[in-house]
Amino acid sequence: MPKKLPNDFLSSLEQIVSNKGMITEQTEIRPYVTEQRGRFVGETACVVKPATTEEVSAVVKLCSDNNIAIVPQGGNTGLVSGGIPFAEDKAIIINLSRMNTIRDLDPINNTMTVEAGCILQTIQDHAANNDRLFPLSLGAEGTCEIGGNIASNAGGINVIRYGNTRALILGLEVVTPTGEVWDGLRALRKDNTGYDLKQLYIGSEGTLGVITAAVLKLFPSPKEQQTAFLALNSLEDALPLLNMAQSMIGDALTSFELIPRIGIDFSLQHGHGVIDPIEGEYDWYILMEASAGTNNSALPDLFEKYLEKTFEEQWVLDGVLAQNKAQSDSFWLIRENVTLCQKPEGGSIKHDIAVPVSSIPTFIKRANIAVEKLIPGIRPHPFGHVGDGNIHYNLSQPVGMDKQEYLNRWEDVNRVVHDIVIDLKGSISAEHGIGRVKVEENVHYKSPLEIKLMQQVKRSFDPQNIMNPGKLIPE
Ligand code: FAD
Ligand code: MLT
Ligand code: ZN
Repeated sequence: MPKKLPNDFLSSLEQIVSNKGMITEQTEIRPYVTEQRGRFVGETACVVKPATTEEVSAVVKLCSDNNIAIVPQGGNTGLVSGGIPFAEDKAIIINLSRMNTIRDLDPINNTMTVEAGCILQTIQDHAANNDRLFPLSLGAEGTCEIGGNIASNAGGINVIRYGNTRALILGLEVVTPTGEVWDGLRALRKDNTGYDLKQLYIGSEGTLGVITAAVLKLFPSPKEQQTAFLALNSLEDALPLLNMAQSMIGDALTSFELIPRIGIDFSLQHGHGVIDPIEGEYDWYILMEASAGTNNSALPDLFEKYLEKTFEEQWVLDGVLAQNKAQSDSFWLIRENVTLCQKPEGGSIKHDIAVPVSSIPTFIKRANIAVEKLIPGIRPHPFGHVGDGNIHYNLSQPVGMDKQEYLNRWEDVNRVVHDIVIDLKGSISAEHGIGRVKVEENVHYKSPLEIKLMQQVKRSFDPQNIMNPGKLIPE
């Protein structure tokens, strides 16, 4: 059972958010405390769902006065257990889903002001309806919320062209740990007036304050798009392929994703409506996309020349260029299923690593050898945003091994893989963040000075340590 909260505290909460914004029934609370991958289930006595910034502010002030911890939460799709409280926390969840108003879209300034609980896909659609693009895109976009995307500095499939969430935010509104409201909703591309506080909140995973609204950058909506699914001659050939794309089609390149054969096999076996676009089997595939913001651009011509060159050089052995939107959607359906279809194959030990792009083949080869030595029969499933140097180095259990026995090796496997990452001057969390599950791992690899500086930032923003305690940095 979760730690009890004082009755007068609960009734004061209810006065702020009304019964519409309070959940105290444990059966109803369950989905809010169960993280995405089902590895951990947290506990809380109460989930509050404020409807306005003023309500968030009043709830936070009440928690601060009573020294009750707060776990901010959006769509609860995060992959590092940052958005759920654990038993020892004695915390409430502030879920932002009811704050879902799009406050403004300025087509001249190319900005949109949204509340934190807006679902990412709703934001993308609203931008598209106004002939604009909000380029953040990831598998969870139908469920995750912009506040969660900002708090976790999400990446996704368009980072190579548009940057991660950090690059897409111009302003923020934040409720501080004492309940004050910082109105930083500036829609400016230039503002050189001191420390850039919004950048501290972006990626802070709920440890510095509750994000209630944001000003987002918009871009011209794509008018022409080219999507290709290519079978590589070898993993190493992904590098010249990327390099050539960047020199021949330049900035138009928006996605460059790696898919291993095992990912296609899992998707064909467990996914719905997945079709292998290429006859024959190859070890590695690239799904790439490019887009132009104007009609009649040079893109189709450049893309065709680029593809010819990749065949000439024999980096690509076979490939399909999508002829229409439906075909390009079918390529992206494979990519989506690659993420989802590892689950039916039993235990999967996951990593979200980054190394310099040039080191990707070395990383995958070294890691494959090391993990096979540790657990013979382990099935590496490296996939993802190779154009950003970011691989989801996931490892499916050997066929026939007991799932729990396999998952018990999680930390041993992490150590071996992360040692290689650090040796190659990489990162143990490229885009999913630290949350609860990587706190110790981060301390293991980051310098004590870096951890100390982060702790000093945390203490100066949140001296009471009530904002998402125990997440991101050690207490
Ligand atoms: P939550 O999970 O609710 O919260 C995430 C963190 O942010 C928590 O620490 C929480 O406390 C904090 N937080 C949430 N809202 C606020 C707020 N308003 N103020 C302050 N703190 C807050 N991630 C990628 O980067 N790239 C991907 O390609 C990608 N693909 C995914 C695909 C799938 C199928 C799934 C399930 C997840 C994927 N993710 C990916 C994980 C990704 O981080 C999340 O999906 C998303 O960014 C989190 O948004 P959320 O609203 O669900 O946040
Ligand atoms: C992805 O790129 O598909 C995600 O980040 C999800 C994952 O790593 O499982
Ligand atoms: Zn990813």
